[in-house]
Amino acid sequence: MRGRYWKTLSIAFVSVFLFTACPADEPADQPPADPAPPPAPEEPMAPVDLPEGVTQEDFQEGQRLFVGQGGCAACHGPQAQGTALGPDMTDGEWLNVEEPTMDEVMRVIREGVAQPVRYPAPMPPMGGARLTDDQIHALSAFILGLN
Ligand code: HEC
Repeated sequence: MRGRYWKTLSIAFVSVFLFTACPADEPADQPPADPAPPPAPEEPMAPVDLPEGVTQEDFQEGQRLFVGQGGCAACHGPQAQGTALGPDMTDGEWLNVEEPTMDEVMRVIREGVAQPVRYPAPMPPMGGARLTDDQIHALSAFILGLN
């Protein structure tokens, strides 16, 4: 008698479990949910220390150009952390910049580095891209803001 009681009880439990575990009312005629949008190429980075006269917007525009239109990330890495083709921009070490000022970094970006100090191949002027002064300004703000 007791055995039967437990058997019935456990069947009841199992059926309740199965019933709740099955998604009973999933609409069959709805299209599958959109696939998640692809992740942004890079998460926005945060400036360590913005140079004087430079805004957060300059910094962010600089990051966009760095990974986008400027093509800088190809050699300097998507997080500006350097690759085999170009140096790290976040380590506070400068190879071609006398003093890390906006003017000086803008000059290097504009002119490129014909004779690299350490890396195998030169950096073409503007990294090979075509950039306005405002864009070079933003890139410089980004790079200096990382240090
Ligand atoms: C073709 C590869 C390449 C591209 C593209 C490139 N760079 Fe460079 N960059 C280099 C190399 C190589 C150096 C010099 C490293 C050395 O002196 O050994 C350099 C140096 C620099 C420096 C000076 C760093 C220092 O330590 O003195 C800055 C600033 C810089 N690049 C910014 C940029 C920006 C901004 C862009 C995009 C507009 C860019 N680079 C695109 C390869 C590149």
